[in-house]
This record gives sequence, structure tokens and C-alpha cells, in this order.
Amino acid sequence: MAKAHKVNGSSGFPKDLKLPNGRAVVVRLLETGDAAGILAFARSLPPNDLLFLRTDITESDNVGEWIANVEKGNTATVIAEADGKIVGYASVHSDQARWTRRVGEIRVQVGPSFRGAGLGRHLAAEIFRLGQMRGLKKMAAMMTPDQAGARAAFEKLGFQVEALLQDWVVDRDGRPRDLIIMSHDLEGLSDQINA
Ligand SMILES: CC(C)(COP(=O)(O)OP(=O)(O)OC[C@H]1O[C@@H](n2cnc3c(N)ncnc32)[C@H](O)[C@@H]1OP(=O)(O)O)[C@@H](O)C(=O)NCCC(=O)NCCS
Repeated sequence: MAKAHKVNGSSGFPKDLKLPNGRAVVVRLLETGDAAGILAFARSLPPNDLLFLRTDITESDNVGEWIANVEKGNTATVIAEADGKIVGYASVHSDQARWTRRVGEIRVQVGPSFRGAGLGRHLAAEIFRLGQMRGLKKMAAMMTPDQAGARAAFEKLGFQVEALLQDWVVDRDGRPRDLIIMSHDLEGLSDQINA
């Protein structure tokens, strides 16, 4: 089996970022002590965002599992903070024991009041960089067709729809939904993500 790539993703963090709208954020890696901050961020999200969360991170057990995955090296997460509060994050998840180990699953979540200001693009770029350091060849993003804004944003980031799977997932209310898988090659990555 291929060896897990050792990652030293901590280089360069924390980073101070000034968004085009003038707001200042700090971008850094998620740490063990961030559980309460992530919970507060998740619980502040509007109901429509919560509906589509891949895992319910308003529950502390699930946040604990996420942080354990970061500690194990299966997940890398960057968070954005403004005034000491988490206002967005991006993660890449991969599993060296699986035959999909060259593909990382990206998740990006930006708080509503910080959207449309380039933060999602910036966090995604950090995750692409960390994914490349892990030896990943492809990024996959998963969402439902109802998440039209997210799909449009990921298309702007260079992702393309790879598959539509019918009735593949259930939302937080237990309703079946189709799943769209979008992907982006990391090999020969252009600088479009940093445009
Ligand atoms: C998707 C999401 C992460 C985008 O974050 P963001 O900070 O608003 O994104 P940015 O401002 O960096 O925008 C990135 C690009 O997408 C475009 N974009 C962002 N939101 C868009 C929308 N609703 N409709 C169309 N385009 C959109 C921007 O114009 C930008 O493109 P450009 O730089 O070429 O102009 C954010 O809307 C979000 O958190 N959504 C809820 C969570 C979610 O559905 N995540 C996806 C599943 S992992």
C-alpha cells in the first residue's frame, strides 16, 4: 500500500488577509482547542446551510471526530477568524487506506455575512495547496442540485460536474436528495484558483 505522505502544512500560517470589502481575517490551521469555536460557527449558520451539511457539525461528537481525523492526518482544515470568531473553513479529507486515496474531498463553508468577498476562493486555494502537499491528484466536491449558489461558486473555482447520483443522500430533515459530484484535477494546476 502507498505510504501516507507526511504533511507539514503548518508552514506559512497564520496568515493575515484583508478582503476586498475591507474586512480583516486570519487564516490558520484548525487546532485541537477549536472545537468550541467550530460548534459556535456551525450553530450560527442559517437553517438552509445546516440542511446540507455533510456531517452535522452542530453536534459536539461529530466535531470531536473531525478534530480526531485532523490529528490522524486524514483531514486538513484551514479556518478563517475575524475578531477571534470562526467565520469560515475549508477541509480536505482523504483516506490512505482506500483505493480513492488519490482523491481528496473538499468542503468549504463561509458564514453568510462573509460570502461573496473572495474568502471561499482563498480558503479553497489553501486547501488545494495542502492537497498537493499530500500527493492528491484530484479534488472532489459533493453537493445537492439544490445548492445552486455553491455549484456556481465551485464552477468559478474550476470544478466540473463529474456525476449526478439519484436519491443518493438524505438531508438533515431525512429527505432524499440527488448528489452532484464535482471534480478538479490538481496535477498541472493553473493559477486560476488564485486569480
Ligand atoms: C460556496 C461558498 C463556500 C462560497 O464562498 P464565498 O466566500 O462566497 O466565495 P467567493 O466570494 O470566494 O467566490 C468564489 C467565486 O464563486 C462565485 N460565487 C460565489 N457565490 C456565488 C453564488 N451564489 N452564485 C454564483 N457565483 C458565486 C464568486 O463570484 C467567485 O467567482 P469570481 O472570483 O470569478 O468572481 C459559500 O457560498 C458557502 O459557504 N456556501 C454554503 C456551503 C456550501 O454549500 N458549500 C459547498 C459544499 S462543500
